[in-house]
Amino acid sequence: MCGIVGILGKDEAAPILLKALRQLEYRGYDSAGIATIDEGRLRRRRAEGKLANLSESLARDPVAGKTGIGHTRWATHGKPSEENAHPHQVGPVSIVHNGIIENYRELRAELTSAGSTFQTETDTEAVAQLCARFLRDGLSPVDAATKTVDRLRGSYALCFLFEGEEDLIVGACHGSALVIGHGVGEMFVASDTLALATRTNRVSYLEDGDIAIVTRVGVTVLDSKRKQADRPRRIASVDASTTDKGHFRHYMLKEIHEQPTLLARSFEHYSKSIQLIGDKQADRIDYSIVDRIVLSGCGTAFYACLVARYWFERLAGIPVDLDLASEFRYREPPLSDRSIAFFVSQSGETADTLSALRYAKKTVSKTVAVVNVEESSLARESDVVLSILAGREISVASTKAFACQMATLVWQAIDAGRQRNTLEADGFREIVMALQFLPGLVSQVLDLESRIAVISREFATSSGALFIGRGMMFPIALEGALKLKELSYIHAEGYAGGELKHGPISLVDEKMPVVVIAPTDSLFEKTYSNMQEVLARGGKTLLITDSTGAAMSDIGCWHTLVLPEVHPVLAPILYTIPVQLLAYHTAATKGTDVDQPRNLAKSVTVE
Ligand code: F6R
Repeated sequence: MCGIVGILGKDEAAPILLKALRQLEYRGYDSAGIATIDEGRLRRRRAEGKLANLSESLARDPVAGKTGIGHTRWATHGKPSEENAHPHQVGPVSIVHNGIIENYRELRAELTSAGSTFQTETDTEAVAQLCARFLRDGLSPVDAATKTVDRLRGSYALCFLFEGEEDLIVGACHGSALVIGHGVGEMFVASDTLALATRTNRVSYLEDGDIAIVTRVGVTVLDSKRKQADRPRRIASVDASTTDKGHFRHYMLKEIHEQPTLLARSFEHYSKSIQLIGDKQADRIDYSIVDRIVLSGCGTAFYACLVARYWFERLAGIPVDLDLASEFRYREPPLSDRSIAFFVSQSGETADTLSALRYAKKTVSKTVAVVNVEESSLARESDVVLSILAGREISVASTKAFACQMATLVWQAIDAGRQRNTLEADGFREIVMALQFLPGLVSQVLDLESRIAVISREFATSSGALFIGRGMMFPIALEGALKLKELSYIHAEGYAGGELKHGPISLVDEKMPVVVIAPTDSLFEKTYSNMQEVLARGGKTLLITDSTGAAMSDIGCWHTLVLPEVHPVLAPILYTIPVQLLAYHTAATKGTDVDQPRNLAKSVTVE
C-alpha cells in the first residue's frame, strides 16, 4: 500500500517527484525512493523512513534527468529498510509498485531456479526480475512489461522505467488505481490526482487490466484484452493547497478545530439538497421502495456506519445490514435487489471498502459512496456520490471526516424517514434545526480543550483505558478507544456499557481510567449503573455527559466533562469531539508522532 508517480517532463524530474511524493505520503511513510534516467542511464536514490530522509539524501547526492519514477512505501512484504525500498531495479529496468503480488512466491521460485538472484524480501522484486528476464530474452521494453504484467496475480499499480528510454514509462494497473496526467509537453502517471495537482488537472483514469504506454506526446492505452482503448480525459477538482498547519502544532488539532465550520458547510449543502421535498436533486435518493440498507467501511468510517445504523433503523424503519468492509465480501451475505448499499470512506481508496462495493454492486439496486475525495475510485464506481465536504484531511487519524460522515448520513436517515412517513414533519424540522445549531455546540465543546489537556496529562501515565457507551454512544466509545491507541500507543478498548460485566470489568483497578460517554438520553440510567459498577471496584471514571447527567451523578467520578445539551439524534457527533481532544492531548503529552503515528498510513490500498 504505497504511492507511486512517474514523470516524463520538461524540467529536472527529482524535485517534481519529491513534491508529488509529499502529496502521496498519506499512503505510507516507511521508506521512499526515486529513479531517473540521466544520459540514458538509470539513477536511483532510496531512503528508509519518511520522505524528509530521501530529500536529505538527494540534497547530499542529487540525481539528474527529466524522466523518472517515485515511490512512498507502506511495508507489506519485507521490513521497512532502504534495501526493500522502491524503485526496485534489475538490470535495465526499474519499477515502482502499489499493491500485493499474490503469486510472487511462485514467480520467485521459477526465476531463482532459472538463475536470478533476489536482493530484497519484497513481492515487488519478482516483477522487476521477470521483466529483466524478458528484456534479456530480446523483447522490447513495452512487450517485456506487457508479458510481465500478464503473469501477475493480485493487486497492482505499476510504473516501469527502462535504461536508454528517456521518452517512455509503462504503467499498468489491476485492483489499484492509476491515473494519467496530461501536461503541456509533459506527461505523468500517478496513484491519484493529488500527486499531480501542482502540474496538471487534465487526467484520464485507467481501468482494471489496462496497460498505458506513456511518452511526452501522449498515451496509448491497451485494455485487458490488449486492444487499444480510449480513456476519456477529465478535469480533476483536486485541492493540493491546504497543507498549512496555521497556528496549530499538528494537522490533527487544526482538523479538530475545523469541525464547526465544516458542519456548517455540510448543513448549508444538505439542507438545500434534501429539504426541497419532491425536487429531483442529483444526489437525492429514493427510499420509498427500499427493503434494506447495507452499510460498510473500515476503521473510523465503519464506526460512522455503526451510528448510521441506529439512525436508519430508528428514524426510517429500514433494517440495516452492517459489516466491516474487510469481512463483508468474504462473508458473502445474500443481498436484496431492493436494497441500497452505502460505502463510507474518507479517501475513497480503501481496498477493502472498494472490494465490498464491487461485491454489492452485483445485486443491490443502488450503491452510494459517502466520501471525502470526490475523484476517488469509490466515488467513480458508485451510482451516487455523497460528498462529506470535509476538505483535505492530512493527519493520518481521521477526525473531521468522521464528524462529516455522520453529518452526511444523518441527512440521509431523516430524508428516508420523511419519504417513508416514519418521521413526522415536526420531528424532521426539529432535527434540521438541531443540525443548524450543531456547529455552535461543537465550538462550545472545543472551549473545553484546556480542561481536557489537563486530564490528558494524567491519562498519559496510564498503560490502558476503557471507553464505554450505550446505544449511539457505543460507536463513539469504539472511536475514542481507537483514537487513543493509534495516537498514544496506550492500549484502549471500547465496549457497549452492558458488556463490561461480561469480562472486561476484571481489568478495572485504580490505575485503569474508564471513559463513560453518557448524555442524558433514555439509556443514561443504565450507563450510570455501569459506571457505579466500575466505581464500586475502585476504578476511576471520566464521565462525559451534559449538565443534567452531571447533576445526577455526583458520586466521586475522577473527572466530569459537561457538554451542552444536544438533540439526542445528534449526540454522537457532539460527543466525538471530547474523545478526539483526549486522544490528541494524551499523544501530544507523550510526544508521539501525532500526525503520522507509527506503522500506519492514511489510505489503506491493500487488503
Ligand atoms: C483511524 C482512521 C482509519 C480510517 C480507515 C478507513 O483514525 O483514520 O481507521 O478510518 O483506514 O479509511 P477511509 O475512510 O479512507 O476508507
